[in-house]
Amino acid sequence: MCGIVGYTGSKKASPIIIEGLRRLEYRGYDSAGIATQEKEGIKIIRSVGKLNNLIEKLSQTTLLGNTGIGHTRWATHGKPSEVNAHPHKAGKFVVVHNGIIENYLSIKNKLVKRGCNFESETDTEVIAHLLWSYYEKSQNTKEAILKTVKELRGSFAIAILNEDEKESIYLVRYESPLVIGVGENENYFASDIPALLVHTNNIIFLKDGDIIKLTPEGYEAFDFNGKKIIRLPEKINLSLSQAEKGGYPHFMLKEIHEQPEAFINTVRTRIKPDTKEVVFDEIPRDIFKKVESIHIIACGTSYHAGLIGRFFLEEIAGLPTLVEIASEFRYKKNFFNSKTLYIFISQSGSTADTLAALKLTKNNKVSTLAICNVLGSSISTEADYTIYTHAGPEIGVASTKAFSTQIAVLFLLSLQFGFYKKAININQLSAFIDSLLKIPKAMEKCLKDSSKIKQLAQKYYHYNNFLYLGRGLNYPLALEGALKLKEISYIHAEAYSAGEMKHGPIALIDENMPVLVINTKSNQHEKTISNIQEVLARNGKVIALISEKDKVTPKYTKDIIEVPQINNYLDCLLSIIPLQLFAYYCAVLKGTDVDQPRNLAKSVTVE
Ligand code: G6P
Repeated sequence: MCGIVGYTGSKKASPIIIEGLRRLEYRGYDSAGIATQEKEGIKIIRSVGKLNNLIEKLSQTTLLGNTGIGHTRWATHGKPSEVNAHPHKAGKFVVVHNGIIENYLSIKNKLVKRGCNFESETDTEVIAHLLWSYYEKSQNTKEAILKTVKELRGSFAIAILNEDEKESIYLVRYESPLVIGVGENENYFASDIPALLVHTNNIIFLKDGDIIKLTPEGYEAFDFNGKKIIRLPEKINLSLSQAEKGGYPHFMLKEIHEQPEAFINTVRTRIKPDTKEVVFDEIPRDIFKKVESIHIIACGTSYHAGLIGRFFLEEIAGLPTLVEIASEFRYKKNFFNSKTLYIFISQSGSTADTLAALKLTKNNKVSTLAICNVLGSSISTEADYTIYTHAGPEIGVASTKAFSTQIAVLFLLSLQFGFYKKAININQLSAFIDSLLKIPKAMEKCLKDSSKIKQLAQKYYHYNNFLYLGRGLNYPLALEGALKLKEISYIHAEAYSAGEMKHGPIALIDENMPVLVINTKSNQHEKTISNIQEVLARNGKVIALISEKDKVTPKYTKDIIEVPQINNYLDCLLSIIPLQLFAYYCAVLKGTDVDQPRNLAKSVTVE
């Protein structure tokens, strides 16, 4: 995944582009580059590594142009190097690209045979060469783009400069995000809204198959057949501060702290204040009646949210639920069922495997629902129905507030299904909602109690391996806690269902293997106490995450993290906070790059 951004207007383009790239750096940071239209032609500056290296390089040169494009890269084809950094040039065309051109090799071979010289190992360079080869014949940019996109397979958001058109930027969107920011006598584009908010909140969400010609005065939109289409801006209700660190040292810490607010924003409009009924205007009522089972498909943290959602859907709504990793689902035999609702969970809405799984599912004429955070994203536009989590922009690569808002949506969905299917009555529904509404305050409390977590991180951050254990709902939570630790602190952490420990992982336990056991109130509480004893009997060190009222677990270990006890289903929304904070503080103590951990990207738009 990469980030692209650009500007055309009367101001100097380069500072605007660099500022935009700064806000998009979470999408990739292997290299960065910029191209601006200068009097003498298009000037390209590229640098390997983080954006600061590019800024350093820019300080030794002058870019005065008022039109330009920029790119921050997460390498797919070709190692991170200056020559592989975008923008790429062929003839008079310069391009930046986010996505992947699946058939680039066959295009490249064809172009090489025709005498094209390739500089880089990237898939992107074929786009520049194709454009130039068509333009050389027709001298018509639009025509060259139409012919080029017809040859490309894969996903792409592309921005194009042509040396012959000093003030125009051409944009193409297909399965990779792209938004336009509409200003006055100036226009912007970017992969994501936070890069634009400082300039405008008049946003156009491009759709798959859109081609745009952007100039300072306005924009024209076409489809891949060259036919004019209408794309109108929307006023976006997001503030710049939501996309900035707001005084926190890292986006991740800010986003952990934003969870009570994100949670409220997500549930607020979905609960009728007077009757305490659940409302999902996005989904027709007959879906709630017709559906007899659920199939959830997602990746990473979103997959863990799905695993938690399964408990809600099965136990509250009585709906048999399967949860699968998208990259597995899309390549196996599936038995599609018209009475199953297929739910695709994705913060970014652009994860390639989840998107491919959604498309595959749609081809089988069944109902699909997306739970996404990013407005106008590919998954949200592709699905039959979309429920947005309103977590606000999530910039830290490790997902935090998106997770809790996904859980909130899955819980509300379960209530709605449960109610329609008469698995719960109005009193039970209302009691669940009462509990749900207590969550934000309880989250605040967990956030205030962070000094204890800091101390624990101090004690444990130098260990190389961790085991996370939990039963029932606490098992997916253990998976998510371990994922957070791995992602940002690079400490190896494995999660197991506590009952499975005896089938293998117990062999690992000694004084060098701390075990974090999640044992908040549940009907398996005592069984998990037995697991804690098994660990202690083998000299293991136990950190226990428990409910405040638990008087038993503290008898076995001093390393206790307490969370309020509200409801067995909803307490996971509280337990996740200390798990996120523990990973965060371990990473800070280890000195790793919390917001941009090595080798990761915020959204993975490649297979
Ligand atoms: C990447 C991110 C994870 C995220 C996963 C799924 O691996 O680093 O934080 O959970 O993608 O992303 P999605 O946007 O589909 O939820």
